[in-house]
Amino acid sequence: MDIEKIKNDIVDFKITDNISLEKFRLSFLSKKGIIPSLFSELRNVPKEQKKEAGQKINDLKKLATEIFEKGKLDFSKAEEKSVIDDFTKPSNILRLGSRHPISIVKNKIIDIFLKIGFDISEGPEIEDDWHNFTALNLPEYHPARDMQDTFYLSKDPDWLLRTHTSSVQIRHMENNKPPIRTISPGRVYRNEDISARSHCFFHQIEGLYIDKNVSFVDLKQTLLYFTKELFGKNKIRLRPSYFPFTEPSAELDIYWGLETETDYRITKGTGWLEILGCGMVDPNVLKNCNIDPNEYSGYAFGLGLERITMLLYQIDDIRTLYENDIRFLSQFSKSI
Ligand code: PHE
Repeated sequence: MDIEKIKNDIVDFKITDNISLEKFRLSFLSKKGIIPSLFSELRNVPKEQKKEAGQKINDLKKLATEIFEKGKLDFSKAEEKSVIDDFTKPSNILRLGSRHPISIVKNKIIDIFLKIGFDISEGPEIEDDWHNFTALNLPEYHPARDMQDTFYLSKDPDWLLRTHTSSVQIRHMENNKPPIRTISPGRVYRNEDISARSHCFFHQIEGLYIDKNVSFVDLKQTLLYFTKELFGKNKIRLRPSYFPFTEPSAELDIYWGLETETDYRITKGTGWLEILGCGMVDPNVLKNCNIDPNEYSGYAFGLGLERITMLLYQIDDIRTLYENDIRFLSQFSKSI
């Protein structure tokens, strides 16, 4: 066993490409190579020398493995390069992703309102108390604040996570003069338990229209147009409701129909589905944004995108929208 000679052979071996690298592996490291055969020869070494000889062979193995691994790195890179240089090779098929269903529905709704002259406004998800509550006629300690509990981040300054994108409407009114026609899409937060139907965050689109002589009729007509465009339904009703920032306030229901068993289930046997909240902007809210309520009036509405998305795609559990399971998401690749 001439360990020194083998060591020299290992070090002197010229590795210049993948072929010589493979030769190196076959000579030294493969099952029939020199190093494994040295290990089997150990059996014949006298007991007292066994330990030292074993150590030396181990060192050889380590050396050869290091050289081999380095060669692998060097030459696999070279191979990759030659693939790139070969421009005649057919390329790999690129797998296209798909849009998230919430984005698909959001874009559809945005398109519907852009067509009738609305613009898009956005604002921060971390808000102050004024824009999320107080300016919207929800002063501190007002019981209606219970309708939208949130996550409070700090007391001074009074930062919190916005509970609706109505906060964006306040910012928009503060910075723009009427006529105002804007929709505000965005993520909002509520301090609520997570279940199949509700989550601690979701997405909204809210709309705001302020001009001279805007009336409830304008609101109703706009919502009818929206319902026809998005759902292809043309029967709606407005049910009286309450929001601190609108007066009068209403919920919009659409007549979904009662043709299938699913229709029965999702409309609880009534045929009607609640879609959004709306109303005429409360004069106090206009005043808070320095808009004269004697000169101007307006309407506002707000809807939850998850609800609409679940309805349009028959999704039962809101949580599937946030899991990002590729098997779920790839089903929407044709809907872009
Ligand atoms: N901001 C309300 C909500 O989040 C929705 C709404 C907007 C209602 C505008 C009326 C007018 O629940």
